Amino acid sequence: MGSIEEPIEVQLPTAAPTFAPTPSLFSLTGRTIAVTGGGRGLGITLAAAVLESGGHCACIDILPSPSELEWTSLLALAKSSNLTVSYHRCDITDETQISATLDLIAETGAKLGAPLAGTIACAGIQQKVPAVEYPVEGFRRIMDVNVTGTFLTIKHSARIFMREGTRGSVVMIASMSGQVANRGLTCTAYNTSKAAVQQMCRSVAQEWGAHGIRVNTLSPGYIRTAMTDALLAAEPEVEKTWMAGALLGRLGTPEDFKAPAIFLLADGSSWMTGADLRVDGGHCASA
Ligand SMILES: NC(=O)c1ccc[n+]([C@@H]2O[C@H](COP(=O)([O-])OP(=O)(O)OC[C@H]3O[C@@H](n4cnc5c(N)ncnc54)[C@H](O)[C@@H]3O)[C@@H](O)[C@H]2O)c1
Repeated sequence: MGSIEEPIEVQLPTAAPTFAPTPSLFSLTGRTIAVTGGGRGLGITLAAAVLESGGHCACIDILPSPSELEWTSLLALAKSSNLTVSYHRCDITDETQISATLDLIAETGAKLGAPLAGTIACAGIQQKVPAVEYPVEGFRRIMDVNVTGTFLTIKHSARIFMREGTRGSVVMIASMSGQVANRGLTCTAYNTSKAAVQQMCRSVAQEWGAHGIRVNTLSPGYIRTAMTDALLAAEPEVEKTWMAGALLGRLGTPEDFKAPAIFLLADGSSWMTGADLRVDGGHCASA
C-alpha cells in the first residue's frame, strides 16, 4: 500500500474499452460503493441500486439508524445477492469521522475482494428563509454540510483511490438549483451551495483525472422525499408551482435516479468526468 505523498502510478488506458457487452457497462460487481445520506430518502434508494448492480454498499449518515422499512429490504436484497450492506453513523462535516469511516469501509471492501471504487455524496440539507432575513448561522450550516461535508467526503474517497491505485468514480448529488433559482422558493443558501458543488466537481475532475479518478455531479429536479415532504406540508401551494414546470406531468421519485447514478459509477461512463447530469423531468428546459 503506497502513501498519499507517493501515489501508485495508475496506468491510464490509451484507447476506449473495446467490445464490453452493454450490461457489463452498468455492473458494479467486485466493487464497494459508499453512499453518504444513505440513511433515508434518495441515498437509501441509491444504495439499493448499488446492490442491484452487483456492488457491496456502505451507507453513511448522521441519523442514529437508517429508515427501518428500507433498511430491512436492503438487508434482504444483500443476503439474496450474496453481497453486504453496512450502516455507519457519521457526521460528514467532521473530517476525523468521515476519514475514519471511509478508511474502515475501504478496509472491509479489500477483505471482501471488492475495493472501494465509488462514492455517492448524497447527504445534504435544505432550509427556506428569505435572503434578507437569513441568519448567518443557518447560512453557514448549509455551507458546512452541503459544501464542506461533500468536499471532505470526496477528498477522503480520492485519497483512498490514490493510495490503493483504484480508478474510482465519485458522484456528487447537486441539484438543478445549482443552475436555476427555484420560482417561489427562498433558498439562497441551498442554491448557492449546490452551485458550489457543481464547480467543485469541475475543479477536482481536472486535478484527479491524471489518477484515473472520475468525478461528476447528478443534479435532480423536484423529488418527493422527507426533505420536500416537510416543505410541501408547510406550504402546500408550492406543489402547484413545481407541477407547472413538470413537462412529464409528475414530480420525481428516488427511483428515477437509480439508473443515472449507476451509469455515473460504472464503466459505461468511463469517458465522462467533470460533467453534470441533470435529471429534472424537463423542469429547466422551459421558462
Ligand atoms: N428532494 C429533492 O427534491 C432534491 C432535489 C435536488 C437535490 N436533492 C439532493 O439530494 C440529496 C438527498 O436529499 P433527500 O431529498 O433524500 O433528503 P433527505 O433529507 O431525505 O436525505 C438527506 C440525508 O442526509 C443526511 N445528512 C444530513 N446532514 C448530514 C451530515 N452532516 N452528515 C451525514 N449525513 C447527513 C440526513 O440525515 C438524511 O438522511 C441532498 O443532497 C439534496 O440536496 C434533493
